[in-house]
Amino acid sequence: MDQLDISVIPGDGIGKEIVPATLQVLDTLADLHGGVKFRYQTHPWSCEYYLEHGRMMSEDGIEQLKQTNAIFLGAVGNPQIVPDHISLWGLLIKIRRECEQVINIRPAKFIEGIKSPLAEPNHFDFIVVRENSEGEYSESGGRIHSGKDEIAVQNAIFTRKATERTIRYAFKLAQTRKGRVTSATKSNGIVHSMPFWDGVFNELSAEFPGIETESNHIDALCAFLVSKAHHFDVIVASNLFGDILTDLGAAIMGSIGIAPAANINLTGQYPSMFEPVHGSAPDIVGRGIANPIGQLWTGKMMLDHLGLNELGTLLLRAIEDSIAEGVKTRDIGGSSNTQEVITHINSKILSY
Ligand code: NAD
Ligand code: IPM
Ligand code: MN
Repeated sequence: MDQLDISVIPGDGIGKEIVPATLQVLDTLADLHGGVKFRYQTHPWSCEYYLEHGRMMSEDGIEQLKQTNAIFLGAVGNPQIVPDHISLWGLLIKIRRECEQVINIRPAKFIEGIKSPLAEPNHFDFIVVRENSEGEYSESGGRIHSGKDEIAVQNAIFTRKATERTIRYAFKLAQTRKGRVTSATKSNGIVHSMPFWDGVFNELSAEFPGIETESNHIDALCAFLVSKAHHFDVIVASNLFGDILTDLGAAIMGSIGIAPAANINLTGQYPSMFEPVHGSAPDIVGRGIANPIGQLWTGKMMLDHLGLNELGTLLLRAIEDSIAEGVKTRDIGGSSNTQEVITHINSKILSY
């Protein structure tokens, strides 16, 4: 039997509710498969951990994570007790960087049974490939002076290496899909990094003659995701643009509570990390009403990544069937609570 070691970090807020709930479903799938077993190493790293230890994760935390096959994370952030830039840079972004998870993949598609706010969703189905290691999320910059003379400088770093690998990943992904790549740019306003990004995109497009390409300014692209979401296949974007586009993608699906994501280590040297697009949702924590679908679908992406595609397919089928049968949390128009959704999805899996 194959044993897979999974690092589990529930994190903060609803992460602590939906991660344990999702593990119930992953175990059901593993039992069904018979040939695989998940061994979880659960870490309490969170804002509460920070208050106790003065750090967001243990000193050897990254080393511990690197010993495992994958990382399954809920959400990080409790700004009432720890400022976001400390908690996120001390845990989430630290793991992305140190485990070299350089690409963030975030699918968005129309799901039957969930009301999209779009007038004509037309079964849209696209994936955002987000650069995940640099760009606008750089540590370069600083703050000087104070009072009315205060200045904050935030540099955006775009290396050829990271830009090429992100765009190349998008082209290769499009080869397995509808064959269209849209580049999110802003070269009309951002005069160094974005013309550079466009140049790399144009260079690489020559290597992929079968792929249809287009570049949209990020502002127009946001509007197009509302007016013609079905047009898109693979969208490639910088770190910040990809972040913004994927909350928008989640919103047009019907709720940020259902959108999944994967932070991919391309070399296989370190584990990849799977965490939903949404955050810790402090406004609904403790009520048992958090939607577990984003976390579950993220689990499907982890199963696929681990080569357990059959289980991943089964899980997505159970999610879709459960929604079609009306077992839904209130953010997507139902009245079920988190555990009711989990129990239903579990029983669907057992019934196949
Ligand atoms: P959020 O995604 O946590 O919440 C935005 C809105 O969506 C809230 O109304 C929330 O109730 C709702 N929502 C989110 N997930 C839901 C779910 N599963 N079911 C039902 N409703 C859900 O965004 P925010 O409020 O901007 O951030 C809260 C905290 O989370 C902050 O500390 C932020 O930095 C952090 N954050 C962390 C991650 C991450 O760890 N990957 C991602 C985004 C935000
Ligand atoms: C996400 C989040 C993070 C990001 C934050 C919490 C740092 O919004 O994963 O989408 O911007 O990458
Ligand atoms: Mn985000």
